[in-house]
Amino acid sequence: MLKPAPASETLLNIASTFGTPTYVYLEEVLKERITSLKQHLVGLPLQLLYAMKANHAVPVMNRVKQEGLGIDAVSSAELLLAIELGFPVDKILFSANNMTDTEMHYAKQKGAILNVGELSRLEKLGAAYPGSDVCVRLNPQIGAGHHRHVITAGTESKFGIPVEQIDQIHAISKKYDLHIRGLHQHIGSGILDTDTLWKAISVMLNASLSFDRLEFINVGGGLGIPYRADEAGIPMDEFASKIVAPLKQFIASHPSKKLEIWFEPGRFFTAECGVLLATVNTIKETEQITFAGVDSGMNHLVRPAMYGAFHEVVNLSNPNGPLEKYDVVGNICESADFFAKGRMVQKLSEGDIVAVLDTGAYGMSMANHYNMRSLPAEVFVPIGSHEPILFRSRRTPEQIVAETLNLS
Ligand code: LLP
Repeated sequence: MLKPAPASETLLNIASTFGTPTYVYLEEVLKERITSLKQHLVGLPLQLLYAMKANHAVPVMNRVKQEGLGIDAVSSAELLLAIELGFPVDKILFSANNMTDTEMHYAKQKGAILNVGELSRLEKLGAAYPGSDVCVRLNPQIGAGHHRHVITAGTESKFGIPVEQIDQIHAISKKYDLHIRGLHQHIGSGILDTDTLWKAISVMLNASLSFDRLEFINVGGGLGIPYRADEAGIPMDEFASKIVAPLKQFIASHPSKKLEIWFEPGRFFTAECGVLLATVNTIKETEQITFAGVDSGMNHLVRPAMYGAFHEVVNLSNPNGPLEKYDVVGNICESADFFAKGRMVQKLSEGDIVAVLDTGAYGMSMANHYNMRSLPAEVFVPIGSHEPILFRSRRTPEQIVAETLNLS
C-alpha cells in the first residue's frame, strides 16, 4: 500500500506554478509534529531543542522559534543563522564536532552554550576561559540508528567523551574551575528501539550523580519516523512508558538537583512536513527494468544512495493508476543515483509529477551542486493558506557559472 501524498492538489499546483525540482514544506504537519512530542513530554521539567542540521530553511526555523524551542547548532554558520533569526543564545547549544579554536572563540563570543565532546577541547576551553560554563557530551558506549553511518555512540564512535573517562572530566574541570552545567548524549538517528535508547539514557543518569552543579541532562535526538506505509516510527506508547515515565521518576527522586531534561530531535519534527517534487522526463524500458528518469537526483536527496533509505514515491498526476514496477532514477552521472528500485508506483508517463515523501529532514540540508546542477527550489505552505511561498529559486546555468567564475 502506498502512503497518500499530503495535500496532493496543493502540491500539483505548486509544481505547475513554480516548476520542479522543488522541495515543499507544509507548516501544518511541522506544527503537528512538534505539538505531538510536547504532549508526550508533559510533566517533565523540559527544554526542547531543534537539531537544525535536519532542515535550516528560514520559514521552518521561524515556526520552530514560535514553538519556543531552542537550537542544537553544529557549525558557526548554523549558530549565526539561529541568532539572526532571533533564537535566544541561552537556548542554543553549540555542538561542533572536532571543534576548532576559531569555532570555540566564536561560540563563546556569541554567548552560546558550548557542548564539548573531546577531553583535549575541554582542556583548551579551560585554559582560554577558566571558570566558564560548559556542557559535556558523553559517549554512553551504546549506540543505535537506522544505518551504521548514523550511529553516534559506542566503542567505534568518534563522538563524545567515553563515559569511562569521567574522572578526567572532573580533573580538567577542577583544574580550570569549569562549571559543568549540562551532560549531553546523542546515540544515533532514526531510532525505533526504545529499550536501547533507555539503556543509554540510564548510563547518563548514573553518570550525572557525580556532577554537583548540573542543571540539565540532554538526552539527544534520534527519534525515528515511519517512512513506509506499514511502519509505525518510534512507538510513542513505549516512549511514554519506557523513557518519559522513568525520567520523571529520576527527577522526582533527586529533587535537590533541580535538573531539566533536554531533547534535541531533528527528523521527528521536520521529516514528514517535506516533499520533493520532480517531473518524470524519461520512461525507458529494457527487458529487465522500467526506468523512470526524473529531473532531480542524489544531489537533491542523497539518503537512498547513502543509506539505502526508503522514501515513498507517489505519482501525483495519476494517483489512481495501476501499480507498475519501476526504478525511479535521477539525472546524475552515478549509478547510485536513484530514489527507488523495483518499486510499485502508480503508472508513470513522461511529464507526470512525482512526490518523494518524508524528505523534510536531511533532504535539502544535505543537497549539493554535483554535476554543476542547481539546488531545487523551496516552497513553504503556511498553515491555512492557499498561497504557497517560494522562498528559494533554482539557479540558472548562467548564475551557477557566474558564481563559479567569481570564486576562481
Ligand atoms: N543532536 C546531535 C548532536 C546530532 O548529531 C543529531 C543528528 C541530532 C541531534 C538529530 O538527530 P535526529 O533527531 O534528526 O535523528 N543524515 C542522516 C542523519 C544524520 C543525523 C546526524 N546527527 C539521515 O539522513 O538519516
